[in-house]
Amino acid sequence: MMINKFYYLFTILYPCASAIGPNTSSNLYPTHNVFQFDKIGKWLENIAVRPNGDLLTTLLYPTASLYTLKRPHSTTREFSLIHTFKNASGLLGITETSVDNFAILSTQLTDTLGPVPGSSAIWGVSFRHGNFSTRKIASIPDVLVPNGITSLPGSSVVLVADSIGGAVTRCDTLSGVCELVLNTTETAPVPGSSQRSGINGIHYQDGYVYWSNSGLVSLFRTPFDKQGYPVANAGIETVGKVNTSFVDDFTKDNTGRFWIATGSNNTIVTLRSDGSTEVAAGSLTELTVAGCTAAAFGRTVQDNRTLYVVTNGALLAPVNGTTEPAKIVAIDTSRHV
Ligand SMILES: *[C@@H]1O[C@H](CO)[C@@H](O)[C@H](O)[C@H]1NC(C)=O
Ligand SMILES: *[C@@H]1O[C@H](CO)[C@@H](O)[C@H](O)[C@H]1NC(C)=O
Ligand SMILES: *[C@@H]1O[C@H](CO)[C@@H](O)[C@H](O)[C@H]1NC(C)=O
Ligand SMILES: *[C@@H]1O[C@H](CO)[C@@H](O)[C@H](O)[C@H]1NC(C)=O
Ligand SMILES: *[C@@H]1O[C@H](CO)[C@@H](O)[C@H](O)[C@H]1NC(C)=O
Ligand SMILES: *[C@@H]1O[C@H](CO)[C@@H](O)[C@H](O)[C@H]1NC(C)=O
Ligand SMILES: *[C@@H]1O[C@H](CO)[C@@H](O)[C@H](O)[C@H]1NC(C)=O
Ligand SMILES: *[C@@H]1O[C@H](CO)[C@@H](O)[C@H](O)[C@H]1NC(C)=O
Repeated sequence: MMINKFYYLFTILYPCASAIGPNTSSNLYPTHNVFQFDKIGKWLENIAVRPNGDLLTTLLYPTASLYTLKRPHSTTREFSLIHTFKNASGLLGITETSVDNFAILSTQLTDTLGPVPGSSAIWGVSFRHGNFSTRKIASIPDVLVPNGITSLPGSSVVLVADSIGGAVTRCDTLSGVCELVLNTTETAPVPGSSQRSGINGIHYQDGYVYWSNSGLVSLFRTPFDKQGYPVANAGIETVGKVNTSFVDDFTKDNTGRFWIATGSNNTIVTLRSDGSTEVAAGSLTELTVAGCTAAAFGRTVQDNRTLYVVTNGALLAPVNGTTEPAKIVAIDTSRHV
């Protein structure tokens, strides 16, 4: 059964909602689907937005494919396959490294969907001057499950979150040289927990690296210098803890609010800098954003308050026994329902 095959990923990337936390209040925004596959069984994992507003989304399963949704806010929107990477079976995090250049993480999965040790890599993808090209940036054999990736503006550095290794690896995308730069309790999986995933999403902004830790269901931050190294002895702050059983990737808006995909909790939750949380879309028993994995705001005047969310269609934690094809959901954060 396919579901059995997913067991490994299930325990790493996407566990069942089981820990019942206190309720979080809801303040819902309107949503609509802007794309949905026609078949169940594909897993959209991450999302980035090109400077022209087109969405890029990575597929974790069953192939290492990169797709685009052109003009996502328009009725003439168009979904298509851009590229399927060879020598990899799934794609994970994606980040823009310089204008219209992106870095993408890939890995090989076994038949039972465990990671093949040593198989992870970083790829460069370029859309510059209307030409598409790919190049291998580096193999990252010491990274067990490469999950999130973020870039440092004005540098060639990316930071890679390793969910099982519980650490952050810094890579120079020009030289391909990689090194471990952060490995602490806040990036690690919770010892002895069935939730094997620690750090998940990672995003650099204004001198800080923010990350989610799935096992700790929390967001953390610590200052990083412009070369991509943690500032010595700066300490790690907890940005907030979420009332869910899992946190996946997240994004930050221009008011400082975090928008967090909660995976099998089937919600997008907002987290403010004062630590308060609210459900912005979905619920445990709805397919609205079921199995959400990541989110990103649009970049055009028409959609810069629209949050685009990618899902796996509740593949591993069906809603009342129901799964659906993976999709991209638009949340209009400019007005409440
Ligand atoms: C997450 O799921 C748990 C049940 O597993 C539920 O009690 C909780 O309210 C949910 N939280 C959110 C924010 O959706
Ligand atoms: C959560 O909500 C349920 C249903 O509305 C309610 O019965 C329960 O008391 C609430 N729990 C908390 C901790 O607020
Ligand atoms: C969790 O939910 C409860 C009940 O809605 C709320 O009082 C509490 O503030 C929430 N916790 C966080 C960290 O938001
Ligand atoms: C393909 O992946 C294997 C590990 O899975 C690695 O040893 C090999 O170098 C890779 N080949 C290329 C061309 O990247
Ligand atoms: C794409 O690259 C080729 C070869 O480098 C170049 O000749 C061509 O002008 C480029 N296309 C565009 C649209 O810039
Ligand atoms: C991080 O540190 C822990 C504990 O020292 C160790 O077990 C783990 O292997 C380290 N992670 C990496 C990726 O080196
Ligand atoms: C799941 O069951 C609950 C409770 O009966 C119901 O409110 C909800 O609409 C159902 N959701 C789906 C997707 O079937
Ligand atoms: C959206 O774009 C407009 C025009 O550039 C800008 O004025 C506005 O601040 C942007 N809003 C957000 C939320 O980024």
